[in-house]
Amino acid sequence: MTAQELRQKYIDFFVSKGHKVIKSSSLVPENDPTVLFTTAGMHPLVPFLMGEKHPLGMRLVNYQKCIRTGDIDEVGDDMHLTFFEMLGNWSLGDYFKKEAIEWSFEFLTSKEWLGIPLERLAFTVFAGDDEVPKDEEAAEVWKSLGVSENKIAYLGRKDNWWGPAGQTGPCGPDSEMFYWVGEGKAPEKFDPEDKCWVEIWNDVFMQYNKTADGSYKPLKQKNVDTGMGLERVVTVLQGKKSVYETDVFSGILDKVRELATVKDQKAERIIADHIRTVTFMAGDGVLPSNLDQGYIMRRLLRRAIRQGKKMGIEKAFIYKIVKVVIDEFGVVYEELRNKEDEILQTISNEEEKFVKTLQQGLKEFEKISGNILEHGGKKLSGRLAFKLYDTYGFPIEMTVDLAEENGLEVNIVEFEEAYKKHQELSRQGSENKFKGGLADDSEQTTRLHTATHLLHQALRDVLGDHVAQKGSNITAERLRFDFTHPEKMTPEQIAEVESIINNKIKAELSVIVKEMTVEEAKEAGAIGLFAEKYGEKVKVYSIGDYSKEMCGGPHVENLSELGEFKIKKEESSSAGVRRIKAVFG
Ligand code: SER
Repeated sequence: MTAQELRQKYIDFFVSKGHKVIKSSSLVPENDPTVLFTTAGMHPLVPFLMGEKHPLGMRLVNYQKCIRTGDIDEVGDDMHLTFFEMLGNWSLGDYFKKEAIEWSFEFLTSKEWLGIPLERLAFTVFAGDDEVPKDEEAAEVWKSLGVSENKIAYLGRKDNWWGPAGQTGPCGPDSEMFYWVGEGKAPEKFDPEDKCWVEIWNDVFMQYNKTADGSYKPLKQKNVDTGMGLERVVTVLQGKKSVYETDVFSGILDKVRELATVKDQKAERIIADHIRTVTFMAGDGVLPSNLDQGYIMRRLLRRAIRQGKKMGIEKAFIYKIVKVVIDEFGVVYEELRNKEDEILQTISNEEEKFVKTLQQGLKEFEKISGNILEHGGKKLSGRLAFKLYDTYGFPIEMTVDLAEENGLEVNIVEFEEAYKKHQELSRQGSENKFKGGLADDSEQTTRLHTATHLLHQALRDVLGDHVAQKGSNITAERLRFDFTHPEKMTPEQIAEVESIINNKIKAELSVIVKEMTVEEAKEAGAIGLFAEKYGEKVKVYSIGDYSKEMCGGPHVENLSELGEFKIKKEESSSAGVRRIKAVFG
């Protein structure tokens, strides 16, 4: 069965069970700042799992583009990928465990669908703990379908609990399905530790919301969220050992091999995986940069280019592989075809730039190593190795190789320390970025925070309703506000925004706060990031009748407490996102 056949069968099956097909969302979460990329099919559906009505109803099905980069160092083995497709079906407060399990069973075993013999399948269900009971119900449904008790394992929270994607959100116990890939017949007794049992599908029974204080509250509605990794299932159904041996990768790998002069299985897999990922990123508007999504894209591209060197590819080659990815996947994901020129341009520019950086890095390396050798040294410090990594994109293996060629040894321990510190800082950076964005609750920060609401509304007035907050960061000295807008603001637009805000401040409007549910807030026309707030009461701050925004506060009581508002800087933050820095003059 080809990947496309599996996609189609999955969709057809769930459509036959009354599901509506939804399009894959962008890889860049549109309204959820808690993660950089869409990591599962349920991710764009969070508001609907929390109770909002979905326009297409209560039963949905799709295939969703996903990126997970947690295991990036494993890419190159048989199964790890940074980009994958997830097949998923959902019940938004409609059917629950019984139907979800029965349909999973039917899709997997019925001859009309995947036709997998039952003896090759095994199942896990939640074993229960202090907070949530054992999932007898799920086990009973599997058994009623003919699954023997021997093929059901009961596991704890580490294995049979899913979510939430961010720190808060919908979650619940799950039941996973496994496929026997070992030689000969599957053993009578299922041992989940045996690596020959490969997980292929996951039915999550989402009935809880993890709140900010870490407790689990029952959700308004009971949902089902299932996820099947397309590439993995294609691999087992095609009887292959590796996802790279399936039709998903054959075209891409053929191209890599055609360009290479040296054989290297790991390198060619890394190239294939990473280029597929960056192509999809570019298709969703990500541009290489030193921040957030753009940073990951840049890293992946650089790693791929480096692997190309290992395979003896000397000239710019990435765009040739990007073209294959577009040709093969553009049939399913039309955004790739529609943006073909843009994608090729973005990636070629970055490749060119990186090749130049590498050359500069080599010069820097020669300077550094020359210096050390001149002074009779034998060691290259971890700090310098980290500089080569961070500034010139030198992966550590490359620095080690170069050092060896020059009779030097790299202090790896020190490099790793510097690397860990850097990672820790950027992790904290992304965690802090969206915690309401306030550095403290000093008077000055509070004043700037209120000004942020004025700014948000004024930007919408001047630039249009497409303006949405993407993040903010406020200290006692200045406010920083990120928002969606495709181009640089003109000086006139900036002046107009300033003038609107200063007029409101002069008018001494008062600020009032009201508590209401998210639904009421939306109805009242409040704007703002909705992130973790679904299903709960939220505060809505109104400034006169000018601005109405969901927000946790704190704010001043009257605009007379603010000074004269001044925009200091308007610049690009990432693709399609602008950043304003402003102060009181
Ligand atoms: N959210 C679950 C997963 O990612 C099921 O879709 O496995």
